[in-house]
Amino acid sequence: MQYHHAIKAATALLLAFCSSFVPGQTAIAAVGLYQPGVKTPNGIGKYYMGRELAHYMSHRGAPWLERNERENEERPDLLMKALDLKPGMHVADIGCGSGYYSRRIAEAVGTNGVVYGVDIQKEMLAILHRNMAANNLTNYLAVLGTATDPMLPVAKLDLALFVDVYHEFDHPFEMMQKICAALKPGGRIVLVEYRMEDPRVPIKLLHKMTEAQVKKEMKAQPLRHVQTVTDLPWQHVIIFEKLGAQTPESPNN
Ligand SMILES: C[S@@+](CC[C@H](N)C(=O)[O-])C[C@H]1O[C@@H](n2cnc3c(N)ncnc32)[C@H](O)[C@@H]1O
Repeated sequence: MQYHHAIKAATALLLAFCSSFVPGQTAIAAVGLYQPGVKTPNGIGKYYMGRELAHYMSHRGAPWLERNERENEERPDLLMKALDLKPGMHVADIGCGSGYYSRRIAEAVGTNGVVYGVDIQKEMLAILHRNMAANNLTNYLAVLGTATDPMLPVAKLDLALFVDVYHEFDHPFEMMQKICAALKPGGRIVLVEYRMEDPRVPIKLLHKMTEAQVKKEMKAQPLRHVQTVTDLPWQHVIIFEKLGAQTPESPNN
């Protein structure tokens, strides 16, 4: 089964590269995972499956993550409902920033559960510690990841949440491989991205993603799309499940 998934992932990746070719590009470009290209103001000039990767948000932007208007603009209550967390779960908040969601997750999973707050900026983890302490929350681990490795234990997670972060990864393929390995079979990946399809969402273009692009990129991973929740004001919540021995792949996928 694992071999089958590896073949499927490689095929999907190859197909995705082929479909993102433009006439005139050399075949050499297909060999690498990433392509260099035009650098736009909010991007890093590196492309994956036709998308320019965005520059990550600096820790100096942490107050924006904690703004009061966020409750109405993003409705975190609706997102938490969609996550359907249970006491005792092990959850990773990937790109946790100031811990806006880590706090909510820690409360939902209770003292028998744990939230791994993962970020590549140690300054963000310092803010996470402060905010967790201010809310008397201790059931969390702050994890300093790298651009290619979230530094998570293997096969331990029930769920990995990504709020407004996946589009910022500068090595999305490697990151998702490692995060899939950190999930238990049947564990879920929840990608929350600003809707590129909706021009009224007031966010810079490179910090938005279409549902189609997210699904295309996840096809390269051992994941199955299970649901997209669309009732948040600005974001879509795109939910995938890890394929594994306990969740045989349907031939219709
Ligand atoms: C826009 S902020 C979102 C923070 C948080 N998820 C929230 O919604 O409040 C994105 C965060 O992702 C982090 N980040 C970017 N690339 C990352 C990576 N490869 N691994 C972990 N964190 C990353 C950034 O450092 C930043 O703190």
